Amino acid sequence: MNIQAKHSADATTVEEGLAIQEEQAKFDSVAATEVAMQNTLLTPRFYTTDFDELDAINVEPVRDDWDKLIAQMVADPNKGHFKKNEDWDHIDWDGMDPELRKEFIDFLISSCTAEFSGCVLYKEMKRRGNNKDITQLFQLMARDEARHAGFINDALREAGVAVNLGFLTQKKKYTYFRPKFIYYATYLSEKIGYARYITIFRHLEAHPEQRFHPIFKWFCEWCNDEFSHGEAFALLMKTDPKLTSGVNVLWIKFFLTAVYATMYVRDHQRPAFHKALGVDPDWYAHEVFTKTSALSQQIFPITLDIEHPRWQRNLVRLHHANVQIAEAKERGGLGGKLSQMAGSAKAALAFVSLYTIPARKHTVPASTRLEPVY
Ligand SMILES: [Fe+2]
Ligand SMILES: [Fe+2]
Repeated sequence: MNIQAKHSADATTVEEGLAIQEEQAKFDSVAATEVAMQNTLLTPRFYTTDFDELDAINVEPVRDDWDKLIAQMVADPNKGHFKKNEDWDHIDWDGMDPELRKEFIDFLISSCTAEFSGCVLYKEMKRRGNNKDITQLFQLMARDEARHAGFINDALREAGVAVNLGFLTQKKKYTYFRPKFIYYATYLSEKIGYARYITIFRHLEAHPEQRFHPIFKWFCEWCNDEFSHGEAFALLMKTDPKLTSGVNVLWIKFFLTAVYATMYVRDHQRPAFHKALGVDPDWYAHEVFTKTSALSQQIFPITLDIEHPRWQRNLVRLHHANVQIAEAKERGGLGGKLSQMAGSAKAALAFVSLYTIPARKHTVPASTRLEPVY
C-alpha cells in the first residue's frame, strides 16, 4: 500500500486512516501538540474504560434498529468526503485578524483533539473486544473519527500548525470512566456535536458572506456521522433499562449539566470567532441546547430546564468565574492563588445552582431511532 498517495478521507479502516496521518506527522508542530496535551476541565480529554464490560453487551433487544444502523454505516456514504477539493477556498492566514486567527486555531486544535479522543477510545474497544456487534460498531466509528481528525489537521497545516496524533496517543493522560459514564458522556458529546455543527452549517447557509473558512462547508455530512454515532450509543443504552432509570437519572442530569456548561464556558472564550461567524454565543448555546434536549429525549427520561430563570444567570456566573481563574493563574503569586481559589468556589456554587434546577421529565419512546432533521 502506498500510503502517501492516499488521503485519510479515503481510508476504510481506522488503522489505514491513522497510518496516513502518521506519515504526515513530520510536518506537525510542537506548539499545537502542546495545546492538545493540556488536561483542564475545559479541554477535550482521552478516555479509557472497562472494555470487558462493554464487550459483554448483548444487542439482541435492539437487533432490528441495530442492523439498520450498522448497514447504513457500512454503506459509508461519506467515504472520500473529508478532503480538500475545488470547494476549498484559499485562506489568507497572514491577513486574518490576529485575535480571530488565534481563537480559530484554538477552535480547530480543540475540535481535532475531541475527534481524536473519540477515535482512540473507539479503536481501543474494537481492538480489545471479541463481541462481533460491538467490535464492528467501534471499528466503524473509529474510522469516521480518524477521517474527521485528519481533515481538521489538513486545515491546521495550512496555517502552519498541526497536531501530532501519534504523540498524543502515547503521551496524553487517559481518564478512566466506568462504561455507563462513557455512554452518557459520549452519547451527549456525539449529539451535541451534531447540534453544534448543524447549527453553524444552517446559519452559514443563510449567511454565506460570514463563512470565513471553507471547512464549514463540510459540516453537514460531518454532523450526520456524529448523529449516527449518537444513535449507536442510544441503542447501547437501550439494551439495559437500568442505565436510564433509578439513581442513574441523577448521573444523566449531572452529565447533561456538565456537558452544556462546559460548552457554554468554552465558547465564551472565543468572542472574535463567534463575531466573525455572525453568531451570538448566547443565542448559539440556547439553540444547541434546545436541539440536543429534543434529541436526547429518545433515551433520557429527563431534560434540563434551560428556560428556568436560574439557568442563564448561572451560566454567566460560571463564565465569569472561569475568566477570574484564568486571569488569576496568569497573574501568579499569592494574590493570584487566592483569586484562583475564590474563582473556583464561585464556579462550584454556580454549577450546584445549575444542577439543582428541577429537571423536566419525559416518557421515553419504545424505539430510540431518529433521523437527522435539523
Ligand atoms: Fe467526529
Ligand atoms: Fe463521532
